[in-house]
Amino acid sequence: MTAAATKVHVLNGPNLNLLGTREPGLYGTGTLDDLRRRCEAAAAALGVEADVRQSNHEGELIDWVHEAGRETAAGVSLGAVLNLGAYTHTSIALRDAVSGVSLPVIEVHLSNVHAREAFRGRSYLAPVAIGVIAGMGPDGYAYAIDALARRRAQQPGT
Ligand code: DQA
Repeated sequence: MTAAATKVHVLNGPNLNLLGTREPGLYGTGTLDDLRRRCEAAAAALGVEADVRQSNHEGELIDWVHEAGRETAAGVSLGAVLNLGAYTHTSIALRDAVSGVSLPVIEVHLSNVHAREAFRGRSYLAPVAIGVIAGMGPDGYAYAIDALARRRAQQPGT
């Protein structure tokens, strides 16, 4: 039997440390700390902890995906909410990391990537994600955390 999950991973990619001052018209005025608190509150409402991280480095994100995969396989984590920033549109290595550890992932973007430049409409991650949420701002992270919890409740052992 799978252990009851105690956490959910929330991994943020490059430039998301700049939230608050980075293109506020697109990404809002909330900071990464505000986003962290939002995720923690959403997770707490479901009885789990949000492990919220951000890195500007592809290799570090890959290591975190592997770690999240191990913890999800052990039943400790519900899976991961991933906003890979621009790596979404470029990184085969991060996609391979997700599929390599069979990590259940919801891809999230603060902005509606489909209403922006054409290159943002391509995601290497989406084909290996459970689903994609874009354009809902920080709410999208809360929806994704909720979706991972519902999925676990409906498919225990996954
Ligand atoms: C983003 C969208 C990406 O295209 C962009 O490179 C980002 C942020 C978003 O959250 O809207 O860094 O992932």
